Amino acid sequence: MNKVFKNLNLGAKLNLILLAIFLVVVLVSGLLLSIILGNYAKKVVADEAIVLIETMGAVREYTSNQVNPELAPRLETEEQFLPQTVPGYSAREVFENLRKTPQYSNFFYKEATLNPTNLRDKADAFETTIVENFRNQSNLKELTGFRYLPSGRIFYVARPLAVSEESCLRCHSTPEAAPKSQILTYGSDNGFGWQLNEVVGARIISTPASEVINAARRLQLLVIGILIGFFLIAVLIINLFLKFSVVRHLKEMAQLSRQVSTGNMEGEFKHDSNDEIGVLAASLNRMKVSLQMAMDMLNSESK
Ligand code: HEC
Repeated sequence: MNKVFKNLNLGAKLNLILLAIFLVVVLVSGLLLSIILGNYAKKVVADEAIVLIETMGAVREYTSNQVNPELAPRLETEEQFLPQTVPGYSAREVFENLRKTPQYSNFFYKEATLNPTNLRDKADAFETTIVENFRNQSNLKELTGFRYLPSGRIFYVARPLAVSEESCLRCHSTPEAAPKSQILTYGSDNGFGWQLNEVVGARIISTPASEVINAARRLQLLVIGILIGFFLIAVLIINLFLKFSVVRHLKEMAQLSRQVSTGNMEGEFKHDSNDEIGVLAASLNRMKVSLQMAMDMLNSESK
């Protein structure tokens, strides 16, 4: 290997070194970029999802504290159940309205529950794992991550859904305690038997992550592309410099030295710069003069 390298000419050696540096730079910067941009993309989607989940929490609270007390008396008398009294219903309705905006049409909100009143809210296998995690670790307040769906990669933020207030038990403890109209609408099989403070489900916001991640990837490729572009320009400039400032002069000097060695003293080692090449040219000139003098002496002696 070392021998092969020694046999290469200056330009090839330099280009080999530049190529090695370049590969290391591209690899390291590619890796760093992918970590940094990956984190950035995650932060962008996470920030958005957190704002939404906080908002949905606020909607739930509003319904619990302000709408439910207003409408609760009507639940006792009216035959028709008023879903507007249910925090989960209002959160869902608000979110569905939000999804009508094209920008948010791929966002989802689900109150994934193990034993839901409305079977639509039943936790799937993935969501059940999340809910079980919340149930087993009472100090766990949030879970985030990516999930791969046929529609693309999504980022989710999940928060535990606990039976936080006595008032919830009215409709979620036993069918007997629940308003008649609720039983008429939802039946008496699901969404009962919940305990106070029990974690019964998880509120989950899903945001489409593919777009943000693809944008981050494109940015990464662009930066690496620019890096490659600058590198190629640098290689070109360095090669031109090497060719015209070093190699050409060295070749001229080698040629002239060959002439001098055969006794032809006509040429002059020229160089107009004061760099190492210039110094070498001046030294070779001095050597040529000395050689000339030595030969002149020899010639005059032999006469
Ligand atoms: C007036 C009765 C009522 C009250 C009070 C009530 N809920 Fe519900 N809850 C329901 C009904 C009915 C549904 C199904 C609504 C739907 O169709 O989306 C529901 C849905 C839910 C869901 C979604 C999963 C499911 O069961 O479909 C959760 C979680 C939930 N409620 C938790 C609570 C909590 C926590 C409270 C107290 C803060 C509460 N509920 C108060 C009646 C009630």
